Amino acid sequence: MNLVTIERHILEQQKHFPDATGELTDLLNDVAFAAKLVRREVVRAGLVDILGFAGGTNVQGEEVKKLDLFANEKIINAIGQHGRFAVMGSEENDGIIIPPKNETGSYALLFDPLDGSSNIDVNVSVGTIFSIYKLKGEDPCKASIADCLQRGSEQVAAGYVIYGSSVVMVYTTGNGVHGFTYDPTIGEFLLSHENIVTPKTGKYYSINEGSYAQFNESTKKYLDYIKEEDPATGRPYSTRYIGSLVADFHRNLLTGGVFVYPPTTTHKNGKLRLMYEANPLAFICEQAGGRATDCKNRILDIQPSELHQRTPLYIGSEDDVLIAEQFEQGLR
Ligand code: AHG
Ligand code: MN
Ligand code: MN
Repeated sequence: MNLVTIERHILEQQKHFPDATGELTDLLNDVAFAAKLVRREVVRAGLVDILGFAGGTNVQGEEVKKLDLFANEKIINAIGQHGRFAVMGSEENDGIIIPPKNETGSYALLFDPLDGSSNIDVNVSVGTIFSIYKLKGEDPCKASIADCLQRGSEQVAAGYVIYGSSVVMVYTTGNGVHGFTYDPTIGEFLLSHENIVTPKTGKYYSINEGSYAQFNESTKKYLDYIKEEDPATGRPYSTRYIGSLVADFHRNLLTGGVFVYPPTTTHKNGKLRLMYEANPLAFICEQAGGRATDCKNRILDIQPSELHQRTPLYIGSEDDVLIAEQFEQGLR
């Protein structure tokens, strides 16, 4: 088997960028390094005192877990120390983060340090999601929130790490989607899923059915449709909902399927965040041939206005997402 480390693969990807300076290669390697540090603690979370609640709530109004904060701190320190990012935005920080030595950075990093927090203490897959943009301006010392509030279509790279039965890192720089599985015996992410292409339709749908009473009538009609018996259209689909976006997204990316977090009475714009959940996964999904919208607009076209803004998210196999959109737009 040809053993390709993520570092080597990123370097080879650089050939697609004639004017590449190697900076993006370094950035992605910084992220891979941070992922190894987070993985080290996630896989032994039950053995060290980083389970449970840290006390307090974050800007999202959600209770913060110790591992949320641990992952956040590791990523900020491990990546910030190299001075390649001029500004960062994290789910766990109210405002932007200006790392030390930012004066040498040319990029902005948006990230969800630990996705699926509700699953941390019960040994269910969780993840890290990241999104990388070039700074809008020339002077990194003037990096600001504006560098973080760019359309998803401006991303230069995006990816996620899923800490599950194995630890897999998936990324794209706009030249396809590639997955790497962590080999703890050598401490490397090795290429395991080259050029991931997502099926046009799947057999899974992922939504929190427990919120059915809070859904719009159009969402309820969609759900009723997807559960009807009709072998000719592969219905009913099977429910798969883990409660960790990264885990649900990764499964659907590989096998086909659709993930939906629609508007609810408690979250009128859905619960998921545009900048460090929807945008990076939408970039990956489209690169793999899938589709990602808020049921009206392409996720990557949304012009952000706030760092932690939320968006409804319909993401996965193209034909499955289109069907969900038709119901939400009252066309079916
Ligand atoms: P995070 O842990 O980063 O706050 O993300 C949790 C998100 C996402 O991972 C998951 O799909 C969703 O919350 C589940 O929300 P519900 O429990 O409302 O279904
Ligand atoms: Mn999350
Ligand atoms: Mn999170």
